[in-house]
Amino acid sequence: MAVLVLASALSVTTLALDNGLMRTPPMGWLAWERFRCDTDCEHDPKNCISENLFIDMADRLSEDGWKELGYVYVNIDDCWSSMERDEQGRLQPDPKRFPGGIHKLTRYMHDRGLKLGIYGDMGKHTCGGYPGTPMEKIEIDAFTFADWEVDMLKYDGCWSNATEQEQGYPLMSKALNATGRPIGYSCSWPAYQGGLPPKVNYTQLGEICNLWRNYGDIQDSWDSVLNVIDWFSKNQDVLIPAAGPGQWNDPDMLIIGNFGLSMDQSRAQMALWAIMAAPLFMSTDLRTISSGARSILQNKIVISINQDPMGVQGRRILKEKNGIEVFWRPLSSNASALVIFSRRNDMPYRYQTSLSKLNYTTGSYKIYDVFTDKTMMLKDSTDFVVSVNPTGVVMWYVSAPAKRNFLQFYKGGKLQGSFYADDDENAIPIFL
Ligand SMILES: *[C@@H]1O[C@H](CO)[C@@H](O)[C@H](O)[C@H]1NC(C)=O
Ligand SMILES: *[C@@H]1O[C@H](CO)[C@@H](O)[C@H](O)[C@H]1NC(C)=O
Ligand SMILES: *[C@@H]1O[C@H](CO)[C@@H](O)[C@H](O)[C@H]1NC(C)=O
Ligand SMILES: *[C@@H]1O[C@H](CO)[C@@H](O)[C@H](O)[C@H]1NC(C)=O
Ligand SMILES: *[C@@H]1O[C@H](CO)[C@@H](O)[C@H](O)[C@H]1NC(C)=O
Repeated sequence: MAVLVLASALSVTTLALDNGLMRTPPMGWLAWERFRCDTDCEHDPKNCISENLFIDMADRLSEDGWKELGYVYVNIDDCWSSMERDEQGRLQPDPKRFPGGIHKLTRYMHDRGLKLGIYGDMGKHTCGGYPGTPMEKIEIDAFTFADWEVDMLKYDGCWSNATEQEQGYPLMSKALNATGRPIGYSCSWPAYQGGLPPKVNYTQLGEICNLWRNYGDIQDSWDSVLNVIDWFSKNQDVLIPAAGPGQWNDPDMLIIGNFGLSMDQSRAQMALWAIMAAPLFMSTDLRTISSGARSILQNKIVISINQDPMGVQGRRILKEKNGIEVFWRPLSSNASALVIFSRRNDMPYRYQTSLSKLNYTTGSYKIYDVFTDKTMMLKDSTDFVVSVNPTGVVMWYVSAPAKRNFLQFYKGGKLQGSFYADDDENAIPIFL
């Protein structure tokens, strides 16, 4: 019996993609949203997709405090390659824009404790029209990436159909494994199949990929962020069980630091990406980012919530008619995170609730407000009011319930009475 139990436990643990990577959501930088397919280095040398751009971002990550917080991947997206494969049929970078080759870039990253990610596509062409990696090229391209000491692959799905994807995505997983180099594997497959069962099999994705794009590309606007949040919340019962250490749903890049979001909206994206246990790939110009955007992206408590080792994706627990939504994520050590999010467009909204209305029912809790740095104690039954800015959030780290201070009085060895020291029947609502 004991042997049987052990055997089945083992077979369960070997189901996840077994490269040992990304036990917490990967963090870093990805070129696409901010820099797209800008190949015009002659007129736009600072922003074009070239080795200089990735070297600049690597310098910023390693010198401006990002790397220490976990932002270690520097990821190339589409439009990096030459239009032609080399004489041996291998992909090669555009020689003008990447004169040192990809291996020079991976060495540059590794020398600084960073990692390099690259991009491929399951079809004949990439989305930007560059050479793709269809079925017959999977093995040679996986081998080429490993040869360059690449650390991650985003495998896109333009120009391929469902039948090809069904074969190609698992085949690439096998091919990466066969190189012997641990390479994080991001699959765009579900995004091309509507993101939902029965077309998408999340059990299988967890077996072959480390992360996967479920939904369309994010754009530099609040509408786009809201659209992503809504899709992930609506489908959370399907998505949450798919996530865990080594396997993550990917709602796409952080656009904080760009042009489309206010500071409140930037905090909202950061907070909700942490609740969703999302990969944190910034797509912004780290050379010119504002100090406001930087402090949101470098908030240690939000990052630690995102990186919680238990790896349970959080959920929307309330959707109020007044436009307030509450999100919750269980964390290790019996802690949790709460996000109170306002979809309103009028003025700061005073939302009244209590911890017990949010299912916290075992006494008093220590609350840490992630964006204001304030700490307080709250009893489960105490009504309180939080002020939530339009399109903004209040985010709390909630510690494990404090042991209730249970006092007993004895006289002559006989119990005379008892009470909870934190009982306070006259508690008035507190305003935060
Ligand atoms: C390849 O897969 C095997 C078996 O799942 C695993 O033990 C090994 O670590 C993997 N290797 C790499 C490089 O991913
Ligand atoms: C998918 O593409 C392959 C290769 O081009 C083709 O043979 C096949 O008929 C296509 N399948 C569907 C369902 O379109
Ligand atoms: C989904 O994938 C898993 C693991 O590969 C497999 O066992 C299961 O049969 C698949 N489910 C469906 C509905 O195809
Ligand atoms: C978490 O709570 C459970 C149930 O209340 C308790 O048994 C467990 O010891 C707690 N774990 C930690 C790490 O505090
Ligand atoms: C509280 O828990 C109950 C029972 O599990 C559940 O039905 C309800 O939706 C939860 N409420 C919130 C706000 O999470």
